[in-house]
Amino acid sequence: MKLTAVDQTSRPSMIRDITLAPSGHRKIEWASRHMPVLNILKTEFEKDQPLAGKRIAMCLHLEAKTAYLALTLRAAGAEVVVCASNPLSTQDDVVAALVEKGVTAFAWHGATPEEYDMHIAKALDCEPDALIDDGGDLVGMLHRERPAQARKIIGGCEETTTGILRLKAMEREGSLLFPMMAVNDAFMKYLFDNRYGTGQSVWDGIMRTTNLVVAGKTVVVAGYGWCGKGVSMRAKGLGARVIVTEIDPIKANEALLDGFEVMPMQQAAIEGDVFITVTGNVNVIRREHMAVMKDNAILANAGHFDVEVSKPDLEASAVSRRTLKNNIEEYLLPDGRRLYLLAEGRLVNLAAGDGHPAEVMDLSFSLQALSLLYMLDNQERLLPRVYNVPEEIDRKVAELRLRSLGVEIDRLTQEQERYLASWQL
Ligand SMILES: NC(=O)c1ccc[n+]([C@@H]2O[C@H](COP(=O)([O-])OP(=O)(O)OC[C@H]3O[C@@H](n4cnc5c(N)ncnc54)[C@H](O)[C@@H]3O)[C@@H](O)[C@H]2O)c1
Repeated sequence: MKLTAVDQTSRPSMIRDITLAPSGHRKIEWASRHMPVLNILKTEFEKDQPLAGKRIAMCLHLEAKTAYLALTLRAAGAEVVVCASNPLSTQDDVVAALVEKGVTAFAWHGATPEEYDMHIAKALDCEPDALIDDGGDLVGMLHRERPAQARKIIGGCEETTTGILRLKAMEREGSLLFPMMAVNDAFMKYLFDNRYGTGQSVWDGIMRTTNLVVAGKTVVVAGYGWCGKGVSMRAKGLGARVIVTEIDPIKANEALLDGFEVMPMQQAAIEGDVFITVTGNVNVIRREHMAVMKDNAILANAGHFDVEVSKPDLEASAVSRRTLKNNIEEYLLPDGRRLYLLAEGRLVNLAAGDGHPAEVMDLSFSLQALSLLYMLDNQERLLPRVYNVPEEIDRKVAELRLRSLGVEIDRLTQEQERYLASWQL
């Protein structure tokens, strides 16, 4: 049953159950203790109130680390409204805790597609000044259904690769109506979140869901981008034989020199025990691949949308389907083979786990907070385009992270600065 709670801002939220809040508060406390950079920023923001009077809508995976970002923006003076960027990654206790802390929330775990869209619409009904998106659902609804409102938005920040691909498509055709910061493309984001965050949390999600050994299995990773590199590296560390599939010859060469086998999916499909798609593309595992897979093959996705493993093809290939265990769906094929889909083919690390480690999201969300402030501070000169995060912000997050770890690095001597800047030696 869904409950409507009233938060401290008097805006009605729509969440599962406000009485779940105590465990949500404890989860947020745990995450916040491992997010030192965001803690430093929060202390600065509490003093300076840089977001006073601003209303920010966030469409992100609603778990503890995201909650701490929402509370950080609130500490900066903003009114914060949240909705989910995936119906299965929402943690109802965390959302309840946010509402108790004065954040307006529209989300519950397992929302139907209609409910999911309704939550996004409700967040937009709050008339935000700026937004933080993950996968482009807020921006998409504003541009498709609410162009007049979109023209009033100051701008926003996008968290993930897939969202930025969509924004760049809109920018190319001239339909983007406000500036967006490409947070995913900052070094301190993709080098850590996509690679080490996805690398660890995907295996966490798969292992806690299946309770099976990884060592000795053949793992097929589709896509050797930043996420795929992390997933492959950790699979190797767990003792798996790793096969990579790619469509980009440069990435395929990288995978080879990193020590992995590379082959087309049609061939890998015969060999794999566990398949993980992480391409941002559609129908990467299809009917012809399913037709040759081993009995008991496990299929999981870590790309943003649940379109990488074709669910229509799985349905069409199977004679029956049943839920074997939470987040494990069994598809029985006519010849008696069984294929298992994890977490409905949605991001396995979030839908069947708690997402990236807090220390990694500390970096991504510190970039989000600083990029949002940059966008608001520069609103007069920013055009409706996709902007890279300025280098100073990337460096600030990197330096604060090192400072929080007590790690020092060398500085250039004057002689070295001169040497690097000259061409006559
Ligand atoms: N699970 C998470 O927590 C998480 C975190 C960050 C990003 N993502 C998402 O993961 C996806 C990948 O992100 P990324 O940063 O690694 O992107 P990326 O652009 O760095 O890498 C994607 C790779 O997939 C390859 N590819 C495309 N189509 C393919 C196909 N049909 N077969 C094989 N390879 C193919 C591309 O050549 C590229 O190398 C995106 O949807 C992104 O939004 C998920």
